[in-house]
Amino acid sequence: MKIGIDKIGFFTPHIYVDMNKLAVARNVEPEKFTIGIGQSQMAVAPITQDSITLAANAALKILDDEDREKIDYVIFGSESGIDHSKSGAVYVHQLLGLNPNARAIEVKQACYAATAGIQMAKGHIVLNPESKVLVLGSDIARYGLDTSGESTQGAGAVAMVISANPRILELENHNVYLTNDIMDFWRPIYSDKAFVDGKFSNEQYIAFFNKVWTAYQEKSGFDLNEMEAICFHLPYTKMGLKALRTVLDDTTEEVRERLLNHYTTSTTYNRNVGNIYTGSLYLSLLSLLEQSEDLKDGSRIGMFSYGSGAVGEFFSGILQPNYRNHLNMKDHKQLFDSRKEVLIEEYEHIFKETLPADGSDIELDIMKDPASICLAGITDHKRQYVNKHS
Ligand code: COA
Repeated sequence: MKIGIDKIGFFTPHIYVDMNKLAVARNVEPEKFTIGIGQSQMAVAPITQDSITLAANAALKILDDEDREKIDYVIFGSESGIDHSKSGAVYVHQLLGLNPNARAIEVKQACYAATAGIQMAKGHIVLNPESKVLVLGSDIARYGLDTSGESTQGAGAVAMVISANPRILELENHNVYLTNDIMDFWRPIYSDKAFVDGKFSNEQYIAFFNKVWTAYQEKSGFDLNEMEAICFHLPYTKMGLKALRTVLDDTTEEVRERLLNHYTTSTTYNRNVGNIYTGSLYLSLLSLLEQSEDLKDGSRIGMFSYGSGAVGEFFSGILQPNYRNHLNMKDHKQLFDSRKEVLIEEYEHIFKETLPADGSDIELDIMKDPASICLAGITDHKRQYVNKHS
């Protein structure tokens, strides 16, 4: 039985910062951000968007009534969850009006969690071939104003329906995974910002990639020749390129050129959104599928997932016949086209505007946020979500 990605949707907030302007404000050369880091724009989350609303908005446009009935498992991957106990999946399940006979859980392992979700979904479909699973990767990446991580912030979510006979990407079974207890990036429960040893995380990302890629080749018998493209988890777009370059000497000029061209296409969306942690690898896949003009049905796409702390995985999938007909290119183009730039002063103001941490109530102005699903406030310690269009 073929199992894989049947639908894929994406959401990012309506405002962004131009990285050239951020560079000027931080007294660094713009090329450091646009070339050295490889980011052009950075999505900014208004106070009315959190990991729940981003995920629900990402799923809203891709689900039809049949999905709502057949989805019996919601897996919410995030490292910016809103509760230590209740899963984000339960809120999203309600906001999307899904069948009550469903499991709903949250999974966490830094940026790796959505990959774990997809693999769990695969196992569930093997046992229940008629089921569909909704896997969400949703995050707001916050390092802090004027920190070295600031240029790698972002916000957004990817939603995927995993099912039998998928219409976009069939997942293959040669997965290789690796865990090692390291402190390259973490966020203690008392902090709303991540701690990061940036250089060490870069080194570890590449080391993990080299190990899982080598083991994947042994397990699958495939090498770079068999990969039409490789998508990477992208904390910033230069990161995947650094990893890819470490293996390109092993192949021909033709394959090198193909992989580098597809790599550039696979970073288009990420370059204009920033890091969305759990969803980043899948945003890169979406970028490749929606922006590439010459990807053929039946092509094999390699996928490298990395979540600091750290867990890495390499796996692959096969593009399904006419997969382009099942993408939501128009919606995603409109999402990007309708975004508005905010200047640095306004971004800093929005960044500092946080929800009360002392348990008090708050009412938020959702009319400034064009998203369908928004956070409207907090009452009696309960977040209040609204879908403006239901
Ligand atoms: N033109 C072009 N490139 C320039 C430049 C210029 N004027 N100025 C600097 N650069 C390049 C640097 O050479 C460097 O490239 P390299 O990494 O290929 O050598 C790159 O820009 C970044 O510069 P660097 O001095 O290393 O930046 P930094 O110390 O401010 O930190 C990170 C960069 C990524 C470490 C930091 O943003 C971070 O910690 N991010 C969060 C953690 C993360 O994303 N980790 C990834 C693994 S999950």
